[in-house]
Amino acid sequence: MKIPPLDIGDIHVPFPLIQGGMGVRVSLARLASAVANEGGIGTIAAVGLGDIEASKTDFENVSRNALIHEIRRAKSMTDGPLAINILGVLSNARDLIQTSVREGIKIIVSGASLPLKLPEMVDDATVKLLPIISSGRAADLVLRTWDKRYARTADAVILEGPLAGGHLGFSFEQLREPEKYSLSVLLPEVLAAVEPFEEKHGRKIPVIAGGGIFTGADIARMLQAGAAGVQMATRFVCTDECEVAPEFKQAYLDSKEDDIVIIDSPVGLPGRAIRNQFLRNLENDTLARLKCPYRCLTTCNIAVARYCIAQALVSAYQGDMDRGLVFCGQNAYRVNKVVSVKELIAELRAGIEAY
Ligand SMILES: Cc1cc2nc3c(=O)[nH]c(=O)nc-3n(C[C@H](O)[C@H](O)[C@H](O)COP(=O)(O)O)c2cc1C
Repeated sequence: MKIPPLDIGDIHVPFPLIQGGMGVRVSLARLASAVANEGGIGTIAAVGLGDIEASKTDFENVSRNALIHEIRRAKSMTDGPLAINILGVLSNARDLIQTSVREGIKIIVSGASLPLKLPEMVDDATVKLLPIISSGRAADLVLRTWDKRYARTADAVILEGPLAGGHLGFSFEQLREPEKYSLSVLLPEVLAAVEPFEEKHGRKIPVIAGGGIFTGADIARMLQAGAAGVQMATRFVCTDECEVAPEFKQAYLDSKEDDIVIIDSPVGLPGRAIRNQFLRNLENDTLARLKCPYRCLTTCNIAVARYCIAQALVSAYQGDMDRGLVFCGQNAYRVNKVVSVKELIAELRAGIEAY
């Protein structure tokens, strides 16, 4: 297959891939800029940046300054397209979105709850807004709400299927039958849901599919089925440019299919992670209760949460597998070596071309 570019309005992306945002320091400036330099869109995840100790007294300022630092660092390494991924459930989401726009970011991706109010947080019409959704119904609801309230539509939509990493937009019951909600089932629904809004607003709304996409052939199949591009994250963890500790990457390399599990996250959503010592301690209820260091999530129920997810994800980033929660996609067990972003994209490119 000839590789089609991805066009999001006036943003031209030669290789139709978004490296998915990976929160709490998994996708930082080095990874995002490397992907942008290879012709895709690189994403910095805005959640969980900044020193935890300092955040305890000055959460908003510490997070904002850390995000500014990452954006400037990424921009010093690439002129290619960069996106910021912001969880809608962050208590400081609005501030981080407005900070990103002030720093010149032109693509905002938002998920982990339907980003119904995203347009009112961005008053620059040149900034592209990409909601993450997990069904045709959710796409319709977001686009209908944006159309009615703000007379605007999405610049692209990211469809995240049930095999994705991190927090998932599916119930535990739905995750037990992933084939029923596979990307090949959901993609036609989402394409149909965006069509009336494309007609009304007189422009294309590219649908980008993600969750479990692993090879160039997988990408080609999605493009053939009508996706304008793909979002991939798990494969980018085991790259030289991903800034997590070597132990985090090793957990991916050592994992077997059975080690990839669904957890009930304090965020209030199911999440996918590698079953390591931290999760075993949690199952055995041997974790010490933690105090909430700062209110970073609007949906975290502190009274029942058994651990601080921000702290657990930072520990994973630092390589502490006894205290760290290692998020991953369903296909993490298939990753078997650490490569450069250049090598990974070259492999994917060859796979699409050979399809
Ligand atoms: C370690 C990790 C952290 C993630 N964190 C976030 C996040 O903070 N926000 C988000 O919208 N998606 C997050 N995701 C989801 C990815 O952006 C992506 O859409 C998904 O994982 C794609 O599936 P794949 O990993 O099978 O390629 C995360 C995924 C992983 C593996």
